[in-house]
Amino acid sequence: MEKSIRVFAPATVANVTCGFDILGFAVSAPGDEVVVTLKKSPGITISEITGDGGRLSKDPSQNTVSVPILRYLEKIKSKQGFDIKLHKKMPLGSGLGSSSASSVAGVFAANILLGEPLKRIELLPFAMEGERVACGSAHADNVAPALLGGFVLVRSYRPLDVVKIPTPASLYATIIHPHIEVRTKDARSILRNDLSLHDAIVQWGNVAGLVCGLLMSDYGLIGRSMHDVVAEPYRSALIPGYYEVKQAALDAGALGAGISGSGPSVFALSNDEKKARVIAKKMSEEFNKLNIGNDVYVSQINSEGPVVL
Ligand code: HSE
Repeated sequence: MEKSIRVFAPATVANVTCGFDILGFAVSAPGDEVVVTLKKSPGITISEITGDGGRLSKDPSQNTVSVPILRYLEKIKSKQGFDIKLHKKMPLGSGLGSSSASSVAGVFAANILLGEPLKRIELLPFAMEGERVACGSAHADNVAPALLGGFVLVRSYRPLDVVKIPTPASLYATIIHPHIEVRTKDARSILRNDLSLHDAIVQWGNVAGLVCGLLMSDYGLIGRSMHDVVAEPYRSALIPGYYEVKQAALDAGALGAGISGSGPSVFALSNDEKKARVIAKKMSEEFNKLNIGNDVYVSQINSEGPVVL
């Protein structure tokens, strides 16, 4: 019998307001599933993709699920062949780390099928190559939490240094996905390449404050730190009703709110589940007023990352 496994990898919220390209956390749902099978002959095939509306390429050199596996096989000098079935269970271009979930699920599954020659953390550079395929930039703030679970800080890219940050047990994320699409590539191209010293001071003060707030379970500090002067001022223009949705979340008791990754999803953090659900309802009402369909997700921080189903 052919050896095969099914793996789930979670959606992620990147940036978390002030941490552009350096902070992200994983949620319990949604996420992607892959079924990866060892083949007798070398080479990677993608035999099935569901849930993408026919938009993703089955060419293994073009898909975020397979490129990390190709790079991984080069690294471990293996000629092993794999077949991949990819089941997209979350929207593309949503700001929920859709490409990262596929990248992580694929390489995590391949490594298990080969008897785990590499540790989980060692898979990160390969998963990042999936991001390069998806948007031209190998940032790690989605793939790192998707792979490691929890709330992750990318302390440095060169050398790669990631830190999992403990979070308060009762931290809840509310995520709303409006039915519009923002391509990460476009959302990155509208950002400025320079930053004033004034804005840099504001931003790094908030990043440090957010990390301290998480470590100390200081919800007030978490909330006070959730401000972004780097991406939000530009990207908010890509999301109709963004500031109204954010304000609705804050009025309903969110600690803070912002754009999830490169958008258009918007997320809020809160300190209890009931509040997180009220926030979801209030945010949804704002998009409804604009006749923009939306889906909401409420989840604790997912500390597990990818799992074999
Ligand atoms: N940090 C990235 C960005 C996340 O904001 O462009 C999107 O994948």
